Amino acid sequence: MPVEIIDAHTASQDGIPTFDLSKQIVDGLSRPVGEKEMPTMLLYDERGLRLYDDITTAAPEYYLFGAEEEILKNHADEIVRSMHGHRSGHGNLIDEVVLELGAGALRKTSHILLGLSRYVDDSKTTSPITYYALDLEKRELERTLGEIEASDIGRRLDGKVATKGICGTYDDGLKFIENGGLVQGDRGGFSSAFVDGFNARGGSPISSDSSESDSGSEPPSSEPSSAAGCQPELLHIMFLGSSIGNFPREDAASFLRSLPLRPGVGDTLLLGLDHDNDKGKIEEAYNDRNGYTKRFIMNGLKNAGRTLGDDHMFDEDKWDYVNYYNAAERRHEAYFRSNCSQTITVLSDKKEFTFVEDEMLKIEESVKYSEVDAYTLFSNGNLRPIQRWTDSNGQYSLWLLERPPISFPLLHTPGPVKRVGHTVEPATPFGFPARAEWENVWELWNLVTLGMIPPSMLHEKPIDLRHICLFYFGHIPTFLDIHLSRLLNEPHTEPESYKYIFERGIDPDVEDPTQCHPHSEVPQEEADWPTLNAILQFQARVRQRVRRLYDDLESGRVTLTRRIARVLFMTLEHEAMHAETLLYMLIQRAGSGTLPPSGFTAPHWESLAQSWDAAPVPQEKTIRLGPATISLGHDDDEEEDSSDTDPAHIAQHEFGWDNEHPKRELVVKEFAIEWRPVSNGEFYAFYSGEGKGKIELPASWVAEDGVMKVRTLYGPVDMEIAYNWPVITSYNDLSTYATVKGGRLPTEPELRLFYDKFEAGYEGGANTGLRNWHPVPATTGLARGHGRGSNGGVWEWTSTTLDKVDGFRPSNLYPGYSMDFFDGKHQIVLGGSYATIPRISDRRSFRNWYQRNYPYAWVGGRIAYDLPNN
Ligand SMILES: C[S@@+](CC[C@H](N)C(=O)[O-])C[C@H]1O[C@@H](n2cnc3c(N)ncnc32)[C@H](O)[C@@H]1O
Repeated sequence: MPVEIIDAHTASQDGIPTFDLSKQIVDGLSRPVGEKEMPTMLLYDERGLRLYDDITTAAPEYYLFGAEEEILKNHADEIVRSMHGHRSGHGNLIDEVVLELGAGALRKTSHILLGLSRYVDDSKTTSPITYYALDLEKRELERTLGEIEASDIGRRLDGKVATKGICGTYDDGLKFIENGGLVQGDRGGFSSAFVDGFNARGGSPISSDSSESDSGSEPPSSEPSSAAGCQPELLHIMFLGSSIGNFPREDAASFLRSLPLRPGVGDTLLLGLDHDNDKGKIEEAYNDRNGYTKRFIMNGLKNAGRTLGDDHMFDEDKWDYVNYYNAAERRHEAYFRSNCSQTITVLSDKKEFTFVEDEMLKIEESVKYSEVDAYTLFSNGNLRPIQRWTDSNGQYSLWLLERPPISFPLLHTPGPVKRVGHTVEPATPFGFPARAEWENVWELWNLVTLGMIPPSMLHEKPIDLRHICLFYFGHIPTFLDIHLSRLLNEPHTEPESYKYIFERGIDPDVEDPTQCHPHSEVPQEEADWPTLNAILQFQARVRQRVRRLYDDLESGRVTLTRRIARVLFMTLEHEAMHAETLLYMLIQRAGSGTLPPSGFTAPHWESLAQSWDAAPVPQEKTIRLGPATISLGHDDDEEEDSSDTDPAHIAQHEFGWDNEHPKRELVVKEFAIEWRPVSNGEFYAFYSGEGKGKIELPASWVAEDGVMKVRTLYGPVDMEIAYNWPVITSYNDLSTYATVKGGRLPTEPELRLFYDKFEAGYEGGANTGLRNWHPVPATTGLARGHGRGSNGGVWEWTSTTLDKVDGFRPSNLYPGYSMDFFDGKHQIVLGGSYATIPRISDRRSFRNWYQRNYPYAWVGGRIAYDLPNN
């Protein structure tokens, strides 16, 4: 059967192609000396593709290919299974599309194709999966796909995976999909679902303006917006060979954002990324000793001439191939160097281009990705990793990614600006919250409340020390409404009576639960509570109130004051902190009530654990720090709110809770501290060994049928899976552990010093901001990255008791926020968990606190040691 190739080249309405390679070449040659360049695409004509294939088969220096091939060969089945993590059943697929961008020779791809064929239950008359190879050259697509079809692989794909080609550029292919090109026969609806999902969520969350999306009267849906009404088909995109490296970094993120992956339905992207390996290794990879890469690159020059109408336009003898790894930018650069002065004449354009001797003409950039670069790319591309595979030499990674229903943009994402009245000011990420931050936190709240709490649990208390779940649905909008009414001197949103039930939650003394600070009195009988629907209607009205306030600030009808900004900051962070509180309550019922987070592919624990177990560990267990003077807190005096009237200044102001003010300096003596928090594995050994009888079973563990498990929001997992995650347990028990091990828990300034130096934060890829819905192993303490990394996604206990600091003044807006807890029973915790939003986890002045014997909050800890002679 002839191979089916779809021509996706886009043409403008008058028939002139919208993509003009000749023009791109001429534009690149027209640049000043030192900036001249040619389109990289010139390397991939028919001959170029074959020369590239030669590199991959005969030049072992080009390690990228071998590394990726090794991963695909060893893990194809696991990758395919992870691509289908969203569906519960195995193999029963219908109408699935796998699209490979820049498919090339298909040798590596064949491992995935075979993996897919093994995943499909039985051969059918119509293959449930269609694989599309997209590339630039029709004849090469015919050849490579034809070879697959004629081979044994083709026979094994029969009735399971159909193979087709799409000829065109990446942009052509994406346009083709957007225009409904992948709709198969009468399987309608695929394309429209794509386009809806793509437009609704494809943009960066920070740039989305959903102000018009809510009527204010309808309770929101827990479904991700794009999932509504979409067809059952899945789209998997593959982009292998580190080809994304040919895009400049920012363009790579925009490209990923533009991919038509729908959030929350199981669409995936399999992306190959080369690491920021050693300079020598990278330079050799792109300039092998037998000259394969040189021949490949020089063919680009010939193709340039041919494209401009003269095969001999560039005399190869007058050009050399030069390559260089720009380590500062983590980018390999490939150039033609003119080895004499020369003039190139482009007859068709009647143009001449002169080159001086040694002048460089860039043909290719290959951007490399450190860990931080990779996470930055994903966050900016509005994607999250589901799974990752690394080759045995740790040089190259394949990432499986999905478009999450919610994600938090990087705090320093270029572009977020605060609109204050009519003016636009650059923002601090810890300032007056942008409207988009509200929409994001509300999406999180909807997902946690409506998506994870089944109706049967609404009137249940997942933990004894807190209220029933329904209370929190009402508490958040009530708290917000009370503060907005006070701020704006306006009536409460109806029903006003909610303030008597929902104003304040409870946080009783763990030892004597009758001891509790003032709180609202809640109904005792189930029938006396407002209904969920009534509460959601109320919530929608209060949210609309916030949106109206932003409208008024933007139009200038209301002038931003520091008090308005503070109330918005406070109520936003209050909501985000409650989302985390609710989650640590709900985890106690995960597997027996709580539903897992919808729209996020469930982790494939065994394969994740394999990669965690294989990850490198620090050479030394501890690092010495200090002596040092460290500043804690920040200056944010609420009493100055009324005198600070400059809108530009207000927009720049960093807000915090009352206990973060004022900035203060402390001296820290020299001490040693462990690179990583105590892990489940370490704590389990202690619990069942020398610590027996000395500590309690952590509330984050549960024994099921005599087997110890670790709780996750997906239900308990075996201890072996979570072995290297930081343990979550009470201060008292971790403190006992530390003492028995000859150390202690660090003080607040000590832990802050460690974090300042080594914790990478959300920007650095830390496990915060719901990148994952579970902890992961810590990554701090490795030589690569100079020790910087993440603690795995937990808060950490300190030995510092929460107390008044000099200059403390209780908040006028919320006097009891800290004051109610200056009872000597609460320890400061720092950092953030996997569920903490980045503006909280990354604000170094932020402090949280819990009672020493409170076992539920997501807090772990690490051991510090005093040094002799100190
Ligand atoms: C580095 S090769 C990788 C090939 C293959 N994916 C692999 O991993 O071996 C890049 C591939 O992308 C194709 N390509 C490059 N630029 C393209 C573009 N703008 N649109 C479509 N394909 C492109 C090339 O033809 C080539 O097959």
